[in-house]
Amino acid sequence: MSVGEALPHDGASLHVTGAARYVDDHPLPADTLHLAFGLSHVAAGHISKMVLAEVRHAPGVIAVLTADDLERDADTSPSAHDEPLLAQRQVHYAGQPLFLVAADSHLAARKAARLAEVEITPVAPILSIEQALAANSRFEDGPRIYEKGDADKAIANAPHRIEGQIEIGGQEHFYLEGQAALALPQDNGDMVVLSSTQHPTEVQHKVADALGKPMHAVRVETRRMGGGFGGKESQGNALAIACALVAARTGRPAKMRYDREDDMRITGKRHPFRITYRAGFDDEGRLRGVDVVHHVLCGWSQDLSLPVADRAMLHADNAYHLPNARIESHRLRTNTQSATAFRGFGGPQGMLGIERIMDHIAHHLGRDPIEVRQANMYAPAEIAPSGPGTGHRFGGAHSPKTAKPEIQTTPYGQEVRDSILPQMTDALLRSSDYHARRARAATWNAGNAIFKKGIALTPVKFGISFTLTHLNQAGALVHVYQDGSVQLNHGGTEMGQGLHQKVAQVAASQFGIDVQRVRITATDTAKVPNTSATAASSGSDLNGMAVKSACDTIRGRMTEFLATYFQAGSIRFAAGKVFADTHVLSFGEAAKLCYQHRISLSSTGFYKTPELAWDRIKGRGRPFFYFAYGVAVSEVVIDTLTGEYRILRADILHDAGKSLNPALDVGQIEGGYLQGAGWLTTEELVWDKPGRLKTHAPSTYKIPACGDRPRIFNVALWNSENREETIYRSKAVGEPPLMLGISVHMALSDAVAACGARYPDLQAPATPEEVLRAVHRAREAA
Ligand code: MTE
Ligand code: MOS
Repeated sequence: MSVGEALPHDGASLHVTGAARYVDDHPLPADTLHLAFGLSHVAAGHISKMVLAEVRHAPGVIAVLTADDLERDADTSPSAHDEPLLAQRQVHYAGQPLFLVAADSHLAARKAARLAEVEITPVAPILSIEQALAANSRFEDGPRIYEKGDADKAIANAPHRIEGQIEIGGQEHFYLEGQAALALPQDNGDMVVLSSTQHPTEVQHKVADALGKPMHAVRVETRRMGGGFGGKESQGNALAIACALVAARTGRPAKMRYDREDDMRITGKRHPFRITYRAGFDDEGRLRGVDVVHHVLCGWSQDLSLPVADRAMLHADNAYHLPNARIESHRLRTNTQSATAFRGFGGPQGMLGIERIMDHIAHHLGRDPIEVRQANMYAPAEIAPSGPGTGHRFGGAHSPKTAKPEIQTTPYGQEVRDSILPQMTDALLRSSDYHARRARAATWNAGNAIFKKGIALTPVKFGISFTLTHLNQAGALVHVYQDGSVQLNHGGTEMGQGLHQKVAQVAASQFGIDVQRVRITATDTAKVPNTSATAASSGSDLNGMAVKSACDTIRGRMTEFLATYFQAGSIRFAAGKVFADTHVLSFGEAAKLCYQHRISLSSTGFYKTPELAWDRIKGRGRPFFYFAYGVAVSEVVIDTLTGEYRILRADILHDAGKSLNPALDVGQIEGGYLQGAGWLTTEELVWDKPGRLKTHAPSTYKIPACGDRPRIFNVALWNSENREETIYRSKAVGEPPLMLGISVHMALSDAVAACGARYPDLQAPATPEEVLRAVHRAREAA
């Protein structure tokens, strides 16, 4: 059995020895051209003058292209065809590509791109929510609204009410490998593109479009990415298209990679949000009604903003049953980088809103926030029956005598049948020693004027599936060679998350062989067509099933043949062998025998997620196949003189279903938690008044470093079966753990609250400056 084993990532030794090949490591043909964009330094306006003579005459330059030089309007958008590769007179953000330089080296192209004489007549840029609302600058005609019950009335009639607002900053992906592409021209005008992309099919489609060719003329290959995090769902299109256009024009290979600063200036990031809320609740903090308004800063083009903003709405409840809710979402168009997918895809912002409400309610009532959270959590719909005295493994709080509660629904009408959060919360409260540590923090705070401690538990309930239903499909191609080695291919891409390893384990399990005998090759649009982005955490769910189906087809053919050949009643694949009653063959011998008897040892596989039904306009249905759950307790200490802080300890219990690979899953959880903590603490994006990104390098943009991880970091898997029929009953794990990082923000809020009587109203990111401001707010006389 290979599935379920904590095996290392298939690329681990290649990663750490520097031998793993990324696009930039690909050996280049001698005449390869290198590309660079010339960028706008103005956020909004129109190009009144663009003189490129000096660029053209710079050393090593072979070609310079503007929008006017392109026969077809090359568009890079994944959605609305609103992103010209090169600006066409109008400029929409500082960092927008204006022209393209092809030179004989990377450096020559970059140096030449600086020599342009560009004049842009500026217009006032739209940078803030207020400016966007005043100009009615938005995507879609008006706000989208999802409603359940009557929130207004419920809030008005509730015993207690709060209202507030939280500003939530964006986030730079900071994948270690920047965006990169290489186009290799072929016979007949065909094009092969190597791309660092989460979505090879999209690159194929966009390149074909730009070249005016059918999709069959373009083949896209992605071996691996050095991180994507959503930032390579659509943001790699521009480079791939630029390379293909230059390659088609010159007949020479063309390569492009963004330097870090260009990458940060050009590409989209996580959407900044403002969430304005009102809530009505009873003495226990149980919600009667919630009204939230999302203002979403989408940047200059549509990109993936509509589904991102939708997912934020779909996570406005997070883990809590909202009997009456109104969720309103404004998708605003601004003159900044086009905000894009980022781990969680809007979910994190939506969740932070309701977690802030929980925290605010607890402060209002003078209760421990965990009580308010527990009072509102979705109840388990079906409690496993247990004999007298046994109880649930982590049981206690929910005895089998409890009447089966009615099935609760989300604000968009999906039944929550699989909630395991109350049990997980109880278990984590115990294993993290939450209550005792909270009491100790209170004692500490009473005795320390300068350093204050805070502790918080936050849950995660994350919906798994693409909300655009047709994307929930996958294909695979599996070959068994006559020596019994297996090569497989599927539509998913590897970005560090370990998808290939998990899927290889699935194939190894299906054939009963060691995972070393299975090789996964580069994702390739010529092997598996019409794939979805590796996104929405669904990579292993979808591709694991597709691969399983292909393996089952081959195994079925082998079984049928071997049963006849050996006149055997049963054929079993296990431990690298095939058992045909009393005959035992190695898997390789069995494959060879099948080959010699002309049995096909190659198959495709296909999977589509069942039971999805979603109407995004009405905001009703079942957008998600199931939910993934997690709980985290974070403890922090702040310095009230400087606002600086540390995460002292984190305890996490996360639900990856029946884990396909516990080592990889724990890695995803640790990394996700820290990336989420970074988003809400030190990672601050700053644009200046004219709209230029000032934090465009690691010198000014601070992601968590190794030393920022909690010194005590206890991560455990819940490890119980998914109630839905997923691949080996596992659950998706890529994005959900990011939102465990919310506990850090809430712990910081808790520490600041110890400074005074007022609600500290901590904004995000809670940089040391913001923590210091919040300390002052908390201390203001009520
Ligand atoms: N983990 C690593 N190491 N690198 C990444 O780029 N991307 C995340 C997550 N974990 C990412 C990662 C995002 S945004 C998603 S959607 C999932 O992985 C995608 O992979 P999966 O569907 O196979 O989980
Ligand atoms: Mo992940 S944001 O769905 O690529």
